[in-house]
Amino acid sequence: MDAPLYNALCVLRGQKGLRMHMPGHKGKSPAAEFSTAAALDYTEIDPTGNLYTGEGPIAAAEALAARDWGAAQAFFLTGGSTQGVLAGLSLCAEPGSTVLLDRNAHRAFYSAMALLDLTPVYLDKPTAEQVSAALSEHESIRTVCITSPTYYGVIADVEKIAAACRAHGARLLVDEAHGAHFPFVGRGPCAAGRGASVSISSAHKTLPALGSTALLFTDGSFSPAAVREKTALFGTSSPSYLLMASIDWARAYLTEGAGGAAYRAVAAETARLRAQINKRGVFRALCEADGVSLDPTRLTVDTGRAGLSGDQAGKHLEQDYNIWPEMTDRDRVVCILTCADTAEELERLGAAFAALEQFAAAAPFRPCPPPPAPRMRRRIREAVFAPRRMLALNLAAGCVSASSIAPYPPGVSVVAPGEEITREIIEYLAAVGYDVSAPVPVLKEPGFVGKETL
Ligand SMILES: Cc1ncc(COP(=O)(O)O)c(C=O)c1O
Repeated sequence: MDAPLYNALCVLRGQKGLRMHMPGHKGKSPAAEFSTAAALDYTEIDPTGNLYTGEGPIAAAEALAARDWGAAQAFFLTGGSTQGVLAGLSLCAEPGSTVLLDRNAHRAFYSAMALLDLTPVYLDKPTAEQVSAALSEHESIRTVCITSPTYYGVIADVEKIAAACRAHGARLLVDEAHGAHFPFVGRGPCAAGRGASVSISSAHKTLPALGSTALLFTDGSFSPAAVREKTALFGTSSPSYLLMASIDWARAYLTEGAGGAAYRAVAAETARLRAQINKRGVFRALCEADGVSLDPTRLTVDTGRAGLSGDQAGKHLEQDYNIWPEMTDRDRVVCILTCADTAEELERLGAAFAALEQFAAAAPFRPCPPPPAPRMRRRIREAVFAPRRMLALNLAAGCVSASSIAPYPPGVSVVAPGEEITREIIEYLAAVGYDVSAPVPVLKEPGFVGKETL
């Protein structure tokens, strides 16, 4: 397969050179489970290239990634989409500026906003109409950030939103962490190939790539040196070659190997699973007939409508069926399906959902929408770095949060740093199963004489 970095490492391994450099295992871990991986785990030497200067087989592998994801440029990341969000926002937004942010944003955006001293104006929903209206109201905003797809697999209309941003002279950054597989299941190029300035995809979430691998894509409007400078700012100076090679290999497997066909088969199987669940009519699997554009391989099942909480359903799946969902919340169970799932495994998943229907109760859960965003009392940066104390969340009404309060996953902030914790929010978090007796960091108000904690 045409996987320049993966192949270069395999050739080096075969040459059996004496490794007088990092990593300290020298390619031969005494732990049998690690030894195959260790043999490919190299560092920056001439034949392997350098991530941050963009040389050798890494640059060649990134060029193929740009081609296959339909972007002008692609950059490998070994610190997940988190590193990509930090690097992407520092490319797109002037420190100290205001950005338009989808309230659905992952907590990585709050870290980026604290470091860059950004102030958010929130979008309820990432639609072109909302983006246009907000940009008309806040004329100085030059950066818009949206999340597409969401954890539940819902896809925004990136092209239309990108056009709205362009009309207002703003850049669009798309957190596409859950959509790295889109080009391989017929959902078109990455967002940076559909009008966004930058998009970020976690390879490790939906591709057969190793944990914490991700890609940052651009539309070509930044110099490669500028992008590498920002990714280096938030990344280790010793990026793992094993991780980078796993991105390279996964891409080749999906384009030239059996991966593409396997992924498309899983998409067809997901549609079948959704239809089976919906035909029985007890639970409801989210599907495009619900009026959303959807990742064809994300299985989001609403069990709450049958009076079984997603969290309880998840516990049954784990304890009774040895099936481990990606995420559960009060109403839903979310499973990530990829080309690595076999037909038998998906059959087993479908049978387990059918069996769970025995736990359905008579009364469906009432909808529990999140309360409106609370009042922002401090800048995010100020709140994150100010002196703080720990307080049980259920005692913290009226305090200013020093961190994101975000059930994880999905890591979406119900309270952002600098926002006031209200009774309404505590009640909402309790209703969705968040442990409100657990301590959260709040700002030390003037006059407080207790112990300061981190
Ligand atoms: C929407 C979204 N963006 C970003 C991230 C961060 O991704 P990573 O874990 O690859 O750093 C996550 C992680 O769950 C996510 O769900």
